[in-house]
Amino acid sequence: MAGGKGVAGLPKGLEERRPEIEDALLAVLPAEGAEPAALVAAMRYGVLAGGKRMRPLLFLAGADSAGPERLPADALEAAAALELLHTYSLIHDDLPCMDDDSLRRGRATCHVVFGEATALLAGDALQTLGFELLATRPAGDSRAGRRSDAVARTARAIGVLGMAGGQALDLGATGVEIPAAERRAHLRRIHALKTGRLIRLSLELGALHVGADAERLRGVSRYGDALGLLFQIADDILDVTQTSETLGKTAGKDFAQEKLTYPSVFGLAGAFQERDLALASAREAARDLEGGSGLLAGLALFAAGRDR
Ligand code: IPE
Ligand code: IPE
Ligand code: MG
Ligand code: MG
Ligand code: MG
Repeated sequence: MAGGKGVAGLPKGLEERRPEIEDALLAVLPAEGAEPAALVAAMRYGVLAGGKRMRPLLFLAGADSAGPERLPADALEAAAALELLHTYSLIHDDLPCMDDDSLRRGRATCHVVFGEATALLAGDALQTLGFELLATRPAGDSRAGRRSDAVARTARAIGVLGMAGGQALDLGATGVEIPAAERRAHLRRIHALKTGRLIRLSLELGALHVGADAERLRGVSRYGDALGLLFQIADDILDVTQTSETLGKTAGKDFAQEKLTYPSVFGLAGAFQERDLALASAREAARDLEGGSGLLAGLALFAAGRDR
């Protein structure tokens, strides 16, 4: 199993499954030393750097909350695909032409170590590997329909009306004065797209692969939207309140780069209030899915209160 420190505050039922995710990541990545050497090294460097593994864990939580069917063992490789897609987004997010960051997951960013061209290609190759896994896992003819649904949903979640679109809006709003009347709605849209869609997708795919019906999936999506917004509001707050050492990425960058964030629009106290509203929505959606205090409610508390 790959190393990596524990994640404080993550519900126990998920924290104890992180090693399975690490193993699945090791199994699906090209082997150490494989060719093309620099590209493979950059892919492995980006992924095997100790992220929280939230998206694969959300896949597992989505499956847990959604149905009596059990996930087949190779579904973990579909869950791992979400981490590859997420890491691709981080490697590109850090490039000089985007957020121009030099620290990620506690070490130098991929382009600082391998150069921009290789980092760009590592992101590309992680994205296509992610899609390959989603198209092939879990295996079996009887699951073909679910797999193609998963691939289509994933393409939508990270494309022009998802992560990539949100990243474009984020860059378009950086260092630019947005009219006050539009600022809050625009900020919410950026966050829903750049971060929320992939988080929602992760939960949905877990639910899909245990055969959740349409109504259940709608409930999971509603929870996912709330959790995604909550997660990015917390990310914005952490940029202001934490040190680079704790975060493993450069603190205070959003302010320095004049990003449109919850603290910049609402002030820090207002951002905490917005975070608490998003937390309440996520907990309500969790209650509808799992009753009292289950995994999804715990995840919402974690997303709000985490320190990295
Ligand atoms: C960081 O995501 C980027 C956002 C979408 C907010 P995470 O906070 O999940 O980062 P890792 O995966 O733990 O490094
Ligand atoms: C990133 O948002 C969202 C992505 C799609 C990667 P940020 O730019 O705030 O993420 P960090 O703070 O660099 O992790
Ligand atoms: Mg960014
Ligand atoms: Mg960034
Ligand atoms: Mg951020």
